[in-house]
Amino acid sequence: MASAAESGPAPPRESDQNFDYMFKLLIIGNSSVGKTSFLFRYADDTFTSAFVSTVGIDFKVKTVCRNDKRIKLQIWDTAGQERYRTITTAYYRGAMGFLLMYDITNEDSFHAVQDWATQIKTYSWDNAQVLLVGNKVDMEDERVVSTQQGRQLADQLGFEFFETSAKDNINVRQTFERLVAIICEKMADSLEGESAAAPGKKGPSLSDAPAQAAQHCGC
Ligand code: GTP
Ligand code: MG
Repeated sequence: MASAAESGPAPPRESDQNFDYMFKLLIIGNSSVGKTSFLFRYADDTFTSAFVSTVGIDFKVKTVCRNDKRIKLQIWDTAGQERYRTITTAYYRGAMGFLLMYDITNEDSFHAVQDWATQIKTYSWDNAQVLLVGNKVDMEDERVVSTQQGRQLADQLGFEFFETSAKDNINVRQTFERLVAIICEKMADSLEGESAAAPGKKGPSLSDAPAQAAQHCGC
């Protein structure tokens, strides 16, 4: 996994054209909520209890199949620490989906969700899809944010909601699959209405995926 605090890592090389779509996804949220752990669980099926705070931004690539299409996920794991904010927000542009994560045992991380949502609005493009993720459900005894509070906030923000555990591998794959599914749904809508694309839309169209594949979208 690449990492760099100053200039940030170069995007993964795209010489492997063996995919129909490329989705750029970001994981954001306060430091220590479990973003890196979540990505390692999903991409490598590993977990470590040691906390190594992310410096700047890292990424991993994973290819998934959906409706006979190969979708290459470029998943960016951002540092939650405030001092990296300028670097990390620079990566929001062009992201098709966000996992906005908080820790169910950490009230501050939940209260920060609104600010993170504002950052998404400010720095990403209008059609980016967002899932709210309450992580660390394996620590039920230390829970301070109820499922209902999480769901309510998600409803208020217009996001879908998942509770997860990177440690116990609860809902990790499902969360990514749902994010991919809603991006695919949006893509199908956007292809249908392509000619009538909204004027003044910020950033790339979902059909900026390889053009040849976009014509055969089965999502
Ligand atoms: P930054 O890189 O600083 O933004 O933090 P992060 O959000 O990437 O947090 P990270 O994944 O490094 O996890 C922080 C700590 O929480 C580590 O000690 C992890 O082992 C632990 N952790 C992550 N996910 C879970 C989980 O689902 N359950 C439990 N019990 N611990 C977790
Ligand atoms: Mg991290």
